[in-house]
Amino acid sequence: MSDFIEDPNELLLTSNLMTRHCLGIAATGGGKSNFLNLILKQQMMRGGGCLHVDGKNSKEAIEEFLSLARQHNRWQDVRIINIDNASLSNSYNPLLRGDADELTTRIMTLIPEAGGDFFRSQAVKGLRAILGVLVKMGLPMNFADLTALMGTETALRWLVQNAPKESEEFLQFKVNFYDQMMETDRRTGAQVMSEKKLQHTFGDLSGRLSNYSMGEAGKVLNSYNPDVDLLDAVKQNQLIYVALPMLSKKEAAIDFAKIMISDLRTAVGQIQNTTPKPSPVFLALLDEFSSYAMPSFDTLFEQARSAQVCLFPFIQTISSLKDKERGLSDDFCNKILGNTWNKISFVLQDPESCEVMSTIAGEQLKEKVSKGSSNTISFAGGDDDASLLRTGGRGSGVTTTTTMDYDAIVRPEDFRNLETGEAIFIGRSDVLKMKVPYVGLKNDGHGLNFPRFNLPQKEGLSLADKYHTFSASQKG
Ligand SMILES: Nc1ncnc2c1ncn2[C@@H]1O[C@H](COP(=O)(O)OP(=O)(O)OP(=O)(O)O)[C@@H](O)[C@H]1O
Ligand SMILES: [Mg+2]
Repeated sequence: MSDFIEDPNELLLTSNLMTRHCLGIAATGGGKSNFLNLILKQQMMRGGGCLHVDGKNSKEAIEEFLSLARQHNRWQDVRIINIDNASLSNSYNPLLRGDADELTTRIMTLIPEAGGDFFRSQAVKGLRAILGVLVKMGLPMNFADLTALMGTETALRWLVQNAPKESEEFLQFKVNFYDQMMETDRRTGAQVMSEKKLQHTFGDLSGRLSNYSMGEAGKVLNSYNPDVDLLDAVKQNQLIYVALPMLSKKEAAIDFAKIMISDLRTAVGQIQNTTPKPSPVFLALLDEFSSYAMPSFDTLFEQARSAQVCLFPFIQTISSLKDKERGLSDDFCNKILGNTWNKISFVLQDPESCEVMSTIAGEQLKEKVSKGSSNTISFAGGDDDASLLRTGGRGSGVTTTTTMDYDAIVRPEDFRNLETGEAIFIGRSDVLKMKVPYVGLKNDGHGLNFPRFNLPQKEGLSLADKYHTFSASQKG
């Protein structure tokens, strides 16, 4: 078999495939990374943008992404987000966009929805009150500011002094939050802030936020004028590579991914209502999707399509989409299956995933059968959704595409028996077994050099600088 793709014309993607969300499923070692590189290569060739969330945090993967971009003259569009290593990252602040409700939801992703309902609702109330005032003030904020506000009386007092007093937001803040944090000092009779109440309200949340206020993540995520803005990234076809440290800092990585996807949702919401839309379609490759999926993400799938953003979540097993411990459910799984028009499966190991994928393939075929009136049914014809996969034509047989006919509906064991680099693609009207071309990445020796920006400082809240007492953070 030939190894490298040399002729780019072999790999033309149809716009149709890329406007439809696609679910990828793959056990380890099946050829997923190679496939993602293929998709990225094509997206770069077309001048499109992407957000590639990679669950593997390795220098080699970043180097591959950069060399792919250089190969297609897209180096200047690359941005890297790496909360594990600020020297290998552009700056990004996921708290700059969205109204007070959106920001509240975004930050609350840090606290699991399951359990502790009372504490959760207290935290929501307090956070919403604070964010209402902050958004009203219009100054950029960051994680360090919020950490300061949640744990420092002086920072809260600053807010009371500087907030626009006539605003509804301030009134809400004062009545619903600030006054409730007060208690009467037994000795003096004066009203003072109760550290205990503050701690009760925000304890867990402020601890988690402080993960992003300090250390490497802190350096990456707290600029008021960061290199990366997801809304601009989507509009300008940037190539964002996100290295998630899933192995070394699992919890922080997962929480960060949730916050970032929530920021993406805000961007998608804004793009939905504006023109022009990204062109070509912006691609979000979401590796390890089920680790950071949230029940509320189903709306993202619905909105993204009309914003010309194509979501490409990758999972390892179907059951990971139902994981109750992560707040997911059968219902969520069904929504994702229903909202992804295409599916692509690499080798699978667990019986449930094999069964479910087999059923999906069968159903797609049946749908086609019931729609068609002819007796001879060709599953490869018609819709061009799958033409990405029909890239063959070269004598050497870089790609082979097999059309499944009706007798050969994909059996569960067919998914288990796939070889590395083989995949089964299930589109609305095609079910194809394919051999993914191998994307040979030539290391061009330019290494880890990526575009960096020295953007002028912007004025922000800067509360952390004024009141540098991370009371909550010092515990852990
Ligand atoms: N289409 C292909 N043709 C030939 N070899 C391939 C193909 N896809 C992958 N390989 C080879 O198989 C190995 C595993 O591929 P890859 O890294 O893409 O798998 P993966 O599913 O991402 O694995 P992991 O779960 O470890 O991330 C690699 O060494 C790669 O060279
Ligand atoms: Mg891989």
